[in-house]
Amino acid sequence: MQRNPKNILVTGGAGFIGSAFIRYLLSSEADFQGTCINFDALTYAGNLDNLRSVESDPRYVFVHGNIQDTTLLEKLYQEYQIDTVIHFAAESHVDRSIVGPEAFIETNVMGTFHLLETIRKHPSIHFHHVSTDEVYGSLGEKGLFTEESPYQPNSPYSASKAASDHLVRAYHHTYHLSACISNCSNNYGPFHFPEKLIPVMILNCLERKSLPIYGSGIHVRDWLHVEDHAKALYILIKQGKSGETYNIGGESERRNIDLVNEIIQIISEIENVTLEELQQLITHVKDRKGHDLRYAIDCSKMKREFNWTPQKQFSEGLKETILWYIHNQDWVRNVQSGAYREWVDLNYSCR
Ligand SMILES: NC(=O)c1ccc[n+]([C@@H]2O[C@H](COP(=O)([O-])OP(=O)(O)OC[C@H]3O[C@@H](n4cnc5c(N)ncnc54)[C@H](O)[C@@H]3O)[C@@H](O)[C@H]2O)c1
Repeated sequence: MQRNPKNILVTGGAGFIGSAFIRYLLSSEADFQGTCINFDALTYAGNLDNLRSVESDPRYVFVHGNIQDTTLLEKLYQEYQIDTVIHFAAESHVDRSIVGPEAFIETNVMGTFHLLETIRKHPSIHFHHVSTDEVYGSLGEKGLFTEESPYQPNSPYSASKAASDHLVRAYHHTYHLSACISNCSNNYGPFHFPEKLIPVMILNCLERKSLPIYGSGIHVRDWLHVEDHAKALYILIKQGKSGETYNIGGESERRNIDLVNEIIQIISEIENVTLEELQQLITHVKDRKGHDLRYAIDCSKMKREFNWTPQKQFSEGLKETILWYIHNQDWVRNVQSGAYREWVDLNYSCR
């Protein structure tokens, strides 16, 4: 199976992983000569500053739009002769889903449903759905999630992603859509919005603010560098078998408390401050409701079928990420001050 994607529509391309995918596609994949349409509603998580390095590339087009706008999507499919849709757009923050689940049902479930309805009318389009390992629920101290693990989502976020996965599967089965699903572990890397664990800890530590850790910090996540993920996704849109699911993991499990201590260690070396000074910033806060203990992915199917393996060593990737935040203070300031929203506020009243 070998597809040759020419014109790719990327939903949610202004977010953390979608923008990494677009940067990777346009800067590292010389064989890609088509057009890449970044289709994004620019919610609080969408930031066009993530794409400054590629925005003048003639192969890149940004279209402001919502995945529920089926008329606009169908117009774009025709105008740009789209042959591939890769779907990142989502509400993605678990804590927000606990406080306000409705937006997650609206975007992740209804949004994916509307998107699938448009693809159903354009059966020549291949659809790739980007999902999460959180759909599988929580592991104990041992074991790994495989593509055969049962779905047991525990948060409104993971339940909404699970529902969207089921819709994709059903549309493939019932209407014979050409479609793949990938479920990945926690991503990290540059341009990560500072509400997620790693950027919060890096920025707070650099600013000597408290480092809030849920409970005792024993929760384990498997960290995947966002560029390794982008590479895996490009392989899958070219070679993924329709109807199949692929797990993408980083093979870098860390307890949250150990991860935070690693960040402290790196920053103490970079800034030449004592470990004790930074360690005293750690603050244990009340645990997240329904907090899953451990996620970890078995990505042997990706290795076996495509010879893909995560390349970035976690300690190296983490240090590079910390240095990225130190060297990209303008990006950080624009996000923290809300200035990154000015373009949207000027041009659109968004959702
Ligand atoms: N970040 C992770 O560690 C992780 C791990 C596993 C899976 N995922 C999945 O990967 C995908 C991308 O995650 P991310 O971290 O880049 O998310 P993100 O929150 O950084 O970005 C989401 C993007 O989607 C856009 N968007 C939201 N609603 C939209 C709508 N209705 N129409 C069009 N665009 C809309 C936002 O503006 C934003 O640019 C999501 O589907 C997420 O569930 C993420």
